[in-house]
Amino acid sequence: MTLDGKTQVYGILGYPVKHSLSPVFQNKAFEHFSINAVYVPFEVKPEEFETAFRGLKALGIKGVNITLPHKEKALELSDFIDSHAQAIGSANTLKITEEGVYAYNTDWVGFLKAVKKLTPQLRNLKVLVLGAGGSARAVLYALRFEKAEVFLWNRTEERARRLCEEFGCFHIKRPEDVLEEVELIVNTTSLGLKEEDPHIFDYKKLNPRHRVMDIIYKDTPLLKSARERGCLYQDGLDMLLYQGMESFKIWTGYDVPYEVVKSSVLEYLNAI
Ligand SMILES: NC(=O)c1ccc[n+]([C@@H]2O[C@H](COP(=O)([O-])OP(=O)(O)OC[C@H]3O[C@@H](n4cnc5c(N)ncnc54)[C@H](OP(=O)(O)O)[C@@H]3O)[C@@H](O)[C@H]2O)c1
Repeated sequence: MTLDGKTQVYGILGYPVKHSLSPVFQNKAFEHFSINAVYVPFEVKPEEFETAFRGLKALGIKGVNITLPHKEKALELSDFIDSHAQAIGSANTLKITEEGVYAYNTDWVGFLKAVKKLTPQLRNLKVLVLGAGGSARAVLYALRFEKAEVFLWNRTEERARRLCEEFGCFHIKRPEDVLEEVELIVNTTSLGLKEEDPHIFDYKKLNPRHRVMDIIYKDTPLLKSARERGCLYQDGLDMLLYQGMESFKIWTGYDVPYEVVKSSVLEYLNAI
């Protein structure tokens, strides 16, 4: 790739951001369409986010992804807000134009496209969601958009209760209480990032009828148990790729093929 005076700049703003896989596949997507653009990570401290945000237009940056912990602030500072991002309460994609900054949330679309590979029909499906953090908001929005029936558990009950009111879900005190009735289980907590993390419930209670999605993009203890017990399961990589593909479409108008982004990430992960 040759960078020159006409190269357009895109990127991701987060803190931390070094672990992000987005530069790997977004740059591959630009290369695939021979677009003269580059996608770079910007590590921006929370106290400097507003300054960085205001600088985007001045620098001529065309679009950025936003990740932890800036998604809510990005929504607040934007000039035009997509209705889905407004309902979710955070933005992970900004398009910067002459008129101002447009804010979108593509996490919910990424989640939907990924989860539909596990279970295409979500209408009236009984789903257990674990966690009530930032990513849970996009997951709950997507599941309720598709009219699934959602049971929500979170360590901090108050947080779960609030989200249940907002998105129309049922709060539960223990995941075990609904395991018999749900068909899909989605983990949105950060538990499982480390092998030694405690299990969220007794994973021996999983049965082959359950489909299990963990939005963490690695093989977590929950997913290992799901595999051992004969469940269909999926990690968070597809959600990440689909949200990124959707952002790319917002910026360029192009649909990048899934295989192109997936192979670039697998190649990268195999090499490190
Ligand atoms: N695949 C993707 O595209 C994608 C996108 C976004 C996020 N993610 C992943 O999703 C995970 C969560 O991200 P987030 O943005 O939602 O984070 P967040 O807003 O910080 O929320 C963290 C969630 O995990 C729970 N939690 C943390 N430590 C816990 C513990 N020791 N015991 C029980 N619950 C605990 C929190 O419960 P409390 O409310 O009780 O604190 C909360 O529900 C991260 O691992 C992230 O990498 C993946």
